[in-house]
Amino acid sequence: MTWALVPAAGSGRRFGGEVPKQYLHAAGKPLLEHALDALLSHPGVDGAVVSLAAGDPRWPGWTTLHGKPVLACIGGVERADSVLAALHALPADVAADELVLVHDAARPNLHADDITRLIAAAAAHPDGAILAAPVRDTLKRADGEGGIVATEPREALWRAFTPQAFRRDLLRRALADAQAAGIVATDEAMAVERLGCRPRLVEGREDNLKVTTPADLALAEILLARRTP
Ligand code: CTP
Ligand code: MG
Repeated sequence: MTWALVPAAGSGRRFGGEVPKQYLHAAGKPLLEHALDALLSHPGVDGAVVSLAAGDPRWPGWTTLHGKPVLACIGGVERADSVLAALHALPADVAADELVLVHDAARPNLHADDITRLIAAAAAHPDGAILAAPVRDTLKRADGEGGIVATEPREALWRAFTPQAFRRDLLRRALADAQAAGIVATDEAMAVERLGCRPRLVEGREDNLKVTTPADLALAEILLARRTP
């Protein structure tokens, strides 16, 4: 059984505005609903746990989508705390060695073929796998005053996306360990890497964008509107 964990407890500080970005609409529905639809319409995903801000007034209260169970839990201060809370809310029959897929609520343009390839890679490797894409731009190191200090090699650098897939117990140990050490992991792989593991990089579609700013939402609107339902 493979479950999805969807952190949706953020406040969207960088986006600004009153409505947290996971509830902003693109192509007719909230970003969170796009993310859940992409996950739960995939035959390899059996259910989802969504982490919400305490007292979230906008959560529609879904208990099933695409005929699969949807559970909700209260998230935490940091994204990693919200993911750990979702792990603890998983049904007891999701075994320690089953895969879980962590996916940002603010990533609405996930395609089924990326999920399929991610699950296959994570199932074949004990350390799990993440969707990612090689860095394409030339990278500059700044001096803090608007000047360029150096041009950095980009050959070995990748941008980490979600979903990120790990065995349930490895992810739980990794996130609990980082939390106990006071380290804020900005993605799941970072916490797993700390344990000495080497999650696999699965090259994914570059249009699997995370909405962070209003410009990203405009792009998401274009990408989602041209997808056939
Ligand atoms: N998230 C979460 N719990 C937190 C922080 C973030 O569940 N304490 C979720 C967000 O809702 C989002 C995902 O993690 O779906 C990715 O985080 P990010 O893009 O950083 O969203 P926000 O934290 O809401 O935005 P910002 O950092 O600009 O405040
Ligand atoms: Mg954030």
